Amino acid sequence: MNLQELTMLYNFKDRTIAITGGAGVLGGEMACALVGCGANVVILDRDMALAEKLLHRFEPTACGRAIVVYGDVLKRDTLEQARAVIMHEFGRLDGLINAAGGNRPDATTSPDRSFFDLPEEALRFVFDLNLMGTILPSQILGQLMAQRGEGVILNVSSMNAFRPLTRIAAYSAAKAGVSNFTQWLAVHMAQEYSPRIRVNAIAPGFFLTEQNRFLLTDQQSGALTPRGETIITHTPMQRFGTPEDLLGAVLWLLSSASAFVSGVVIPIDGGFSAFSGV
Ligand SMILES: NC(=O)c1ccc[n+]([C@@H]2O[C@H](COP(=O)([O-])OP(=O)(O)OC[C@H]3O[C@@H](n4cnc5c(N)ncnc54)[C@H](OP(=O)(O)O)[C@@H]3O)[C@@H](O)[C@H]2O)c1
Repeated sequence: MNLQELTMLYNFKDRTIAITGGAGVLGGEMACALVGCGANVVILDRDMALAEKLLHRFEPTACGRAIVVYGDVLKRDTLEQARAVIMHEFGRLDGLINAAGGNRPDATTSPDRSFFDLPEEALRFVFDLNLMGTILPSQILGQLMAQRGEGVILNVSSMNAFRPLTRIAAYSAAKAGVSNFTQWLAVHMAQEYSPRIRVNAIAPGFFLTEQNRFLLTDQQSGALTPRGETIITHTPMQRFGTPEDLLGAVLWLLSSASAFVSGVVIPIDGGFSAFSGV
């Protein structure tokens, strides 16, 4: 394979990729990169204003196209409507990134809120958003891939799936479920539908975004909390990740450069998961 053939692997022209939570910090960065590489990107989110704002971030020279479609990952009917829009606009779906997810302060233990006091509603919300919010889009949009016998699903797991982090019980359990489901679906799709359908996940380490800012930085001063400091101390690269740090792995897993890779969960964590602490 020569350089031109290699770089063509990352040319996403005429390929359609849907991103749940596509208006968020990490999903938005993936959307920009994919449009830049020529893909048709479907930004699925609940916050239409935020999603529309993202459209202005695309480089004028980008060769792909993006559309914003309402989709709540916990509401089947909205995902079915989104599926109809995708088929009407593009006639096919090549890839799905399940990026919607997150944690909530009231599902997090703290000096003021013990594990025994975490409200059931908050625990269910976080568990459902991350796990069911990955399974439902995989059913409804993954079916298009099963029908065509081709496609790629990329889930967003987390460091806490390998070993749970303190304080975030439901989020850790849900992301462990996402990693497990990734392996399950990879086998199921290949055996029952087509070996040309691949399912993988990335497990980002620590990226400072709205969902974890309250845990990692002091609200008033912006300085690192003791938890934020511990994370940096345990990250051999000595920093939080930036959204662009995810792009190499995302493009690789969505492209045919990873044609023989399925059922894996790739840590993108500055070495956090490799470090014993000593
Ligand atoms: N940041 C990190 O350090 C980190 C580390 C590991 C894994 N992750 C994972 O990476 C993914 C993206 O996180 P992020 O940091 O980019 O967070 P983010 O900026 O909050 O993005 C999440 C997006 O998901 C959307 N969303 C929430 N509930 C939804 C629903 N029911 N249906 C559709 N969309 C929904 C949010 O929109 P709304 O505004 O409507 O809520 C938001 O646009 C998440 O799965 C997260 O768990 C993040």
